[in-house]
Amino acid sequence: MNYRHSYHAGNHADVLKHAILLRMLQLLQRKEAPLCYLDSHAGTALYDLSGEQAGKTGEYRDGIGRLWSREDLPALLAGYREAVARHNPDGQLRLYPGSPQLLADHLREQDRMILSELHPEDAATLKQHFAAQAHIAVHQRDGYELPKAFLPVAEKRALWLLDPPFEKGDDLQRCVQAIQTGIQRMRQTVVALWYPIKDERQLKAFYQHMAEAGLPKVLRVELSVRPTDTSLGLNGSGLMLVNPPWPLWEELEQVLPWLSETLAQSGPGSWRMDWLAGEP
Ligand SMILES: C[S@@+](CC[C@H](N)C(=O)[O-])C[C@H]1O[C@@H](n2cnc3c(N)ncnc32)[C@H](O)[C@@H]1O
Repeated sequence: MNYRHSYHAGNHADVLKHAILLRMLQLLQRKEAPLCYLDSHAGTALYDLSGEQAGKTGEYRDGIGRLWSREDLPALLAGYREAVARHNPDGQLRLYPGSPQLLADHLREQDRMILSELHPEDAATLKQHFAAQAHIAVHQRDGYELPKAFLPVAEKRALWLLDPPFEKGDDLQRCVQAIQTGIQRMRQTVVALWYPIKDERQLKAFYQHMAEAGLPKVLRVELSVRPTDTSLGLNGSGLMLVNPPWPLWEELEQVLPWLSETLAQSGPGSWRMDWLAGEP
């Protein structure tokens, strides 16, 4: 396990993932009924952007950094920036909340959260960080086991972020299988799977697998900050959203063009959004 999210916290991929994840939580919370948030590859709670690791790559500067002082943010992104600003009360961008912290900040009394993280250091940090919060459970275990271990949840409503580091060649395949298992165990689970846009051939097979996996509704959302054939690293990323709450896709019609323009690097950015299964 070499991947450390601290090098990448707050980059363009985190902006896309966290802004949409937070909005999905808020839309699901329009109903009073309790909700369980599951984060199978949780990372840690807070990232120090002035620290050595984030400083080494500086990726956050071309991510959350580009949104930090803008006055023309679409509403969905303004909500996300406000959530980050909560951890930076003096207005200087120094701390970045990872998905567990971002969601923990927005849970209601009736909601609960299950986190799994395999890296011993991050898992220990998470356990300590959330120790006083009985509604947050932290497990040091393989995130792919999460659907079998925890679904269906007693609340009957679940939001699940699947966000592996993609260090291994079969991660996309394992994700599709894990989602299939999860949906078989609890059909109404809302899933957000994050994936990198790097290898177009591998992605083609993945799209087909997602479309044919027997899932109720699948919305594909992608944002590229560079032309996708640039060999500079992570050109873009996507989210596969299973059972996304309405009217998320209508809001994203405004947000994605804005983001692709604002986060573009060395060439024009681009975006797309379409249904791979069950268009409403
Ligand atoms: C992309 S990062 C997570 C970022 C986090 N979800 C966020 O949005 O702030 C992926 C994390 O998965 C962890 N990890 C790697 N393999 C894992 C596995 N099999 N099960 C659970 N966690 C794993 C890594 O240690 C890393 O912290």
